[in-house]
Amino acid sequence: MSLKNKIEKIQNLFNSELASANIDSTVIKELQIKYLGRKGLVSNLFSELSSISADEKPIVGQKINELRTNIQKSFDELNLSDNIDKQQTDVDYSLPGNHFFNGAIHPITQVINDISNIFKNIGFSVYSGDEIEDEFYNFEALNIPKNHPARDMQDTYYLNFEKLLRTHTSASQIHFMEQNKPPVKIISPGRVYRNEDISVRSYCLFHQIEGLFVDNNISFADLKGVMEFFSKQYFGEDVKVRFRPSYFPFTEPSAEMDIYWGLETESDYRITKGTGWLEILGCGMVDPEVFKSVNYESSLTGYAFGIGIERIAMLKYGITDIRLLYEGDIRFLRQF
Ligand code: PHE
Repeated sequence: MSLKNKIEKIQNLFNSELASANIDSTVIKELQIKYLGRKGLVSNLFSELSSISADEKPIVGQKINELRTNIQKSFDELNLSDNIDKQQTDVDYSLPGNHFFNGAIHPITQVINDISNIFKNIGFSVYSGDEIEDEFYNFEALNIPKNHPARDMQDTYYLNFEKLLRTHTSASQIHFMEQNKPPVKIISPGRVYRNEDISVRSYCLFHQIEGLFVDNNISFADLKGVMEFFSKQYFGEDVKVRFRPSYFPFTEPSAEMDIYWGLETESDYRITKGTGWLEILGCGMVDPEVFKSVNYESSLTGYAFGIGIERIAMLKYGITDIRLLYEGDIRFLRQF
């Protein structure tokens, strides 16, 4: 058989074999080796070139080249190189993919948002104060004069002789009343600082939500009603609360509110100091001295409250060490 005939025969054979092969990469791979491999049918044709006459060589050689290009093109059109590559890599496509973590809201922010929403729903607006204050706003205007023993209740970080880090959000009350006429109905969430020994229960910074309501004829019953409403909205209808008389220089009378936590386990005992109750806020009727310092009419009445956020976050999410809230440890934060 002449070389030209062989070329034709191989082309025809290839066409029929390719047509009947199912497009399965192993079969195709075998065909590639059979035709285009180093010892394949096309290479064999090239080695047979030496046996033909010198003037036929270029023509036949060109024909073999065409055959090779045709076959190669057919394989290319199958677009199989992709599939074959995939089968040959070490990647295990059945393995589960990488998990991407979504960001989450920090528990402190979550508690502040949830509580703020409860108060917004009953007409309070949100006012933000500054963390750097001076003694007037943090103490004097709140009826805590110099040398007043109440200054010891809140160990203060002084930045210099004039400026300090606010020890409570009550300083926002004064700023707001200075800038606005009554009636006032605000909450003011934010960070406060106290130089306390750091432990599982206390840290040098924490968060509060201040509340202030000033109008005519506001009574202690209004204060109690709103505090109970808030507790039920936040902790559920069955929550048990109690008010204890207390003292703050800027409210008179003053109270602290506890919620019933339970006394079943040893940790309940520890958290509640053996009483079953946990203090979550301080409150009271605005002292007339405070109205004086912001030039409000002495006939006004009002109540104020300050809710401790960390306590509530720890209760709500079962966090046993307050320091976890500030460390930014991703293993802790991912749980929320
Ligand atoms: N500022 C008080 C504290 O930090 C809480 C408080 C706020 C009490 C408003 C009464 C009224 O302890």
